[in-house]
Amino acid sequence: MKSALVTGAAQGLGFATAALLARSGYEVGLVDLKPLDDAVRRLTNEKLSVRGISGDVTSEEFAQVLAADIAQRHGALDVLVNNAGISLICPAEETTAAQWRRVMDVNLLGPFLLCKALGAQMLARRAGAIVNVASIAGLAGVGRRSAYNASKHGLVGLTRTLAAEWGGRGVRVNAVCPGWIKTEMDEADQKSGAYSDADITNRVPMARFARAEDVASAIAYLADPKLSGFVNGVCLPVDGGWTADASWDSLRVGSRGP
Ligand SMILES: NC(=O)c1ccc[n+]([C@@H]2O[C@H](COP(=O)([O-])OP(=O)(O)OC[C@H]3O[C@@H](n4cnc5c(N)ncnc54)[C@H](O)[C@@H]3O)[C@@H](O)[C@H]2O)c1
Repeated sequence: MKSALVTGAAQGLGFATAALLARSGYEVGLVDLKPLDDAVRRLTNEKLSVRGISGDVTSEEFAQVLAADIAQRHGALDVLVNNAGISLICPAEETTAAQWRRVMDVNLLGPFLLCKALGAQMLARRAGAIVNVASIAGLAGVGRRSAYNASKHGLVGLTRTLAAEWGGRGVRVNAVCPGWIKTEMDEADQKSGAYSDADITNRVPMARFARAEDVASAIAYLADPKLSGFVNGVCLPVDGGWTADASWDSLRVGSRGP
């Protein structure tokens, strides 16, 4: 059975991705800081092969323990999805060093540590796929998100660099760059008054938020060597056309027709 690990899988996009990979025949490890019992129960009820692994992706010790566990069970993973991430909406001039460090730790150091520990096993096997969950905030600036945007730009840079360094040894590294998705993260950000549904839907050519399943499908594509075996180093927007569109709002909304 093929093996996959998804971080930040207790809820949101991570859960949707773990569910899709498990339904596609992978044995999936769900990693999170939050309790995983509920997520695991929902999937085992479908008779899927999943397990919960509690841990903090920012911990080097956790990465090593995880690597030892994976080595023993599988030798190496087929697929690693670095999805765990945190948001921070704050004017740049008010962002503290501690906030900046925490965002960088979770969104960039964590993926690096897991790429290093679990990617080394893939390199030894000369096969594997890593998919990092960046954001359109990794491709362009979005105000009041200096730490978050810098972390996601960093993750795009890490993805391209590992693709260059590891592609010749059979390990592909790609990223997805989702637009705004309806998840718990969006709910919390909207509660803080940062933006509204209309702000997002007016900005997106396809006039809606991403669904977690839209993004999970793109991750599953990049993970599957049969579908994307020569795709390496790509940072794929899954954004309904957001990053392609430089129209002003009235032009975009006016193009939608009656
Ligand atoms: N929601 C969006 O609009 C959106 C858009 C673009 C990109 N993303 C990215 O997608 C990913 C998932 O986002 P989501 O909306 O599902 O978020 P979410 O907040 O709903 O879920 C994130 C999960 O990651 C876990 N997590 C956080 N820190 C962790 C740590 N140190 N170790 C282990 N687990 C940790 C959380 O406990 C949570 O279960 C994130 O990387 C996010 O930046 C989200």
